This record gives sequence, structure tokens and C-alpha cells, in this order.
Amino acid sequence: QYFGTAIDNPSLAPGGASYLPYSIDNSKYRKVAYNSEEFGQVTPANGLKWMFTEPSRGQFNYTLSDEIIKPAIKNGQFRRCHALVWHNQLPPWLTSQTWTASELLSVVRTHIAAEVTHYKGQCLHWDVVNEAFNEDGTFRPSIFYNITGTGYIYEAFAAAAKADPKAKLYYNDYNIETVGPKSDSVRTLVKEMRKKGVKIDGVGLQSHFTVGGTPSYEAQTANMAAFTKMDLDVAVTELDVRMQLPSNGMKLAQQAKDYNTSVMACKNTKRCVGITVWDFQDNFSWVPSTFAGEGDPLPYSSTTEKKPAWYTIAKALRG
Ligand code: G3I
Repeated sequence: QYFGTAIDNPSLAPGGASYLPYSIDNSKYRKVAYNSEEFGQVTPANGLKWMFTEPSRGQFNYTLSDEIIKPAIKNGQFRRCHALVWHNQLPPWLTSQTWTASELLSVVRTHIAAEVTHYKGQCLHWDVVNEAFNEDGTFRPSIFYNITGTGYIYEAFAAAAKADPKAKLYYNDYNIETVGPKSDSVRTLVKEMRKKGVKIDGVGLQSHFTVGGTPSYEAQTANMAAFTKMDLDVAVTELDVRMQLPSNGMKLAQQAKDYNTSVMACKNTKRCVGITVWDFQDNFSWVPSTFAGEGDPLPYSSTTEKKPAWYTIAKALRG
């Protein structure tokens, strides 16, 4: 089992990304990010997404993703790659056109063939399709679903399998960390894929939780078991535990317990292959910009100090 982190370009580049209007002191952050003892695995948080890798149709650009993947290879950190098909962060050329189903399927195929081929042997896991379901387990009405039905899902996995037969191919989503309508639908999808002979190796449980609201150990392990008994791997792919700000000692203690629950659930599940936190330092988290008044969801403080959660995670991983 690996323990890893997502990393984004603005926080990784020395002094912060060049497009930022200010420079940040991220020297401590960079040391931790590149320390393979600390993080045995790395995921680019944004750089592999469609808007960045194929900004114009047929024109591929791997500048951002290479910035994260290359040092990870050099440091011997395992690479989980995210995400080939998602309804968010799509390039305007894709979203502003009306496509027929066969055109859009071919666009998906071309995109995946190029990106997965570029990273052949370098991306050991791929999140092939991300967040295809609504909370009630029906399919999300994305541009892909609206035009191709579920066809894009099969097309995407088949194209990824063809481009890098050795990569482990994942379906990835949030709120599928316990048994319920949404995770049940993922299991149904996997059955359908297998019936059609389309390869899928694993399911990514994003695990964006809240302090005190993390599903119990029993609930998480039961759900993992429901997947693994279908001959699937599972991975905790985007773990974070956000709180209502401001932070205090009680919240930090509960947050540490919540992290422990997810880490132990994975640790004690034979086919849970690893855990990824969705970045590791509070000020680089996606949470505050999405949930007003919430934040501090990660194991390191904004000034790269270890929080109580860091120590419980370390203990859980060692023990
Ligand atoms: O690239 C632009 C840059 O050109 C611009 O100058 C800068 C100004 O703020 O913004 C940059 O884009 C930001 C992008 O991240 C890249 O850093 C967007 O504003 C920002 O909205 C975007 O947020 C990302 C979000 O996905 C998009 O929905 C988060 O960083 C990323 O952590 C988050 O990750 C998702 C997973 O992919 C899927 N699961 C949920 C998870 C959290 O939302």
C-alpha cells in the first residue's frame, strides 16, 4: 500500500507558478512533496485534465503534468494519473460545439489515445472516468452522457486499455465510500463493463470528508469489500477532512481520528492498494474556494507544520 498526495503546479513551482501575480515561499512544501519517504505516490491535481492537455483540438500539451510526473519518476514515487474524462475543466472547443454521438466518441478516443500513449509506462494508475453519477445513482447529465449515453464510458476505458495495456484503469467518484445508491450504481456499471468485455481494474473512493462526519470504519470497510469481492482493487484517492473555520484543538483531534478511520479501513482491506491525500498543506486545498467558511482539511498546516492528523496517520501506517 502506498501513501501519497495530489500536487498542483502553482504550489510546486519554485516561488509558485509563474502565472501567479505574487511569489510564495514554498521551499518547505517542496521538500516534503518530493520526499518519497513521506509520499510514496503522487497525483497531479489538475495538470492532466482535458483543458490543459488538449487545449485546442488535436494539439496536446503536457507542460503542467510533466512538471509533476517527471520529478515523481526521478524520486521513485508511484504515479496515479487523474483524470481522462470528466464533466469539469473541459476545453472550450469541446463544450461549445454540437457533436453527434459518433463524433464525440471519436473525440474521446483520440484524446485518450494521445494522453495515455504519452504517459505509457509512467502513469501506473489512470482515473479513466471521473464522477459519472448523481447522488441518487442515476447518470450525471454531462455533455458526454447527454450525447452518447453510457457509450463514452466504455469507449474511454477501451481506448485507455489499448494505449497502455499495463496501466491499472479506475473509475473514480465521491460519496461512494459507503454502500448506497451511488456506490451500488458503480457496481452495476462494473458488471456491465465486464459483460461487454471492457477492462476496469479498480474503483477510486475520493473520500472528501468533514470533521466528525467521516463514515465509520465498519461502513467504509463494508463498502470496500463490496467492490473487492467483484475482483476489483480499491484506492482512497482524494482524502481530506474539512472543518468549519476557525480551527481549534477539539476539531484538530477529531480530524486526526477521522483520518485514522480511513487509513485503517484501507490498511485492513487486502485489495485497497493505497491512500492519496488531496494535497497535504492546508493553504493549497481546494476546499475554501468551494465551501465558504470551511477549510484546513489536510495533515500539514499552511506553514508546513505537522498537525495532529499527521501523527495519527504515521502511527496507523506504521502499526
Ligand atoms: O489554470 C488556471 C490559471 O491559469 C489561473 O490563472 C488561475 C487563477 O486562479 O486558476 C487556474 O485554474 C484553477 C485550477 O484549479 C488549476 O489550478 C481553477 O481556478 C480552480 O477552480 C481549479 O480547481 C480545481 C478543481 O478540481 C476544479 O474543479 C482544484 O484545484 C482541484 O483540486 C479539484 O480537484 C477535484 C478533482 O479533480 C476531482 N474530485 C474533486 C476534487 C476537488 O474539487
